[in-house]
Amino acid sequence: MIRLDKYLSDAGTGTRSTVRDYCRKGLITVDGVVSKHPEQKIDPRNMKICYCGKPVCYERDESICYMLNKPAGYISATRDDREQTVFSVMPGVDPDHFFPVGRLDKDSEGLLLITNDGALSHRLTSPRAHVPKTYEVWISGILTDIELASLREGTDIGDETRCLPAEVMILHTETSYKLTEKERECLPDSTPAVITASHVRITIYEGRYHQVKRMFHANRHEVFRLKRVSIGLVPLDPELQPGGFRKLKPEELEQLMSVKERQG
Ligand code: URA
Repeated sequence: MIRLDKYLSDAGTGTRSTVRDYCRKGLITVDGVVSKHPEQKIDPRNMKICYCGKPVCYERDESICYMLNKPAGYISATRDDREQTVFSVMPGVDPDHFFPVGRLDKDSEGLLLITNDGALSHRLTSPRAHVPKTYEVWISGILTDIELASLREGTDIGDETRCLPAEVMILHTETSYKLTEKERECLPDSTPAVITASHVRITIYEGRYHQVKRMFHANRHEVFRLKRVSIGLVPLDPELQPGGFRKLKPEELEQLMSVKERQG
């Protein structure tokens, strides 16, 4: 038997004082029952401990994480009554035990991590962690210097605070870009079939709702294709076709596990 707060901090959910705070806030359950007692003695091998509804693994070697090249058209969820989830393309991966780390929009593509490890997920998605996430986006129009500066300095997307500064690089612009039907569906109805478009790489350090699309929208550009190409220092494996997935290599897992939560 082990104290609940020790177990959670050993498993990487947070420092002892952070996990005590989580307990007080009712974010920890033991066998489905909220525990507000960090001193509670638990047997992690026989009890299911969850943080924010996500299971916390006992031993590191039980922690499994897959890299999926998410195809457009699937939602980042374990179950849905109407839409197909990413688990539809992952035969043998059980949505009762695994869940997506954060989310990509239904029409977004690229690197999505799928894990059974609540602590890993928390490390990567905690607002305090500021884990870099890099996207390649295809947008309408050409970015002006002023718009580039706005993205690099921190765009106002209508939230309480501005976005953190992003790294942005224009990869390519085209004055006669022929949109596919799917791409055209992401744009306003009046958009012609051939437009001026830019292919841009952007790295952000937060995970706000529809953040990348809203950042470009705030600068009067529409995103018609968005692909995540890396999380932290882990890139999407170029060998994975859309819908392809594989387990993370130990060094990739290690890299993600070593992401530190910022204190204060
Ligand atoms: N930002 C978005 O707008 N959409 C995504 O899917 C990911 C980041």
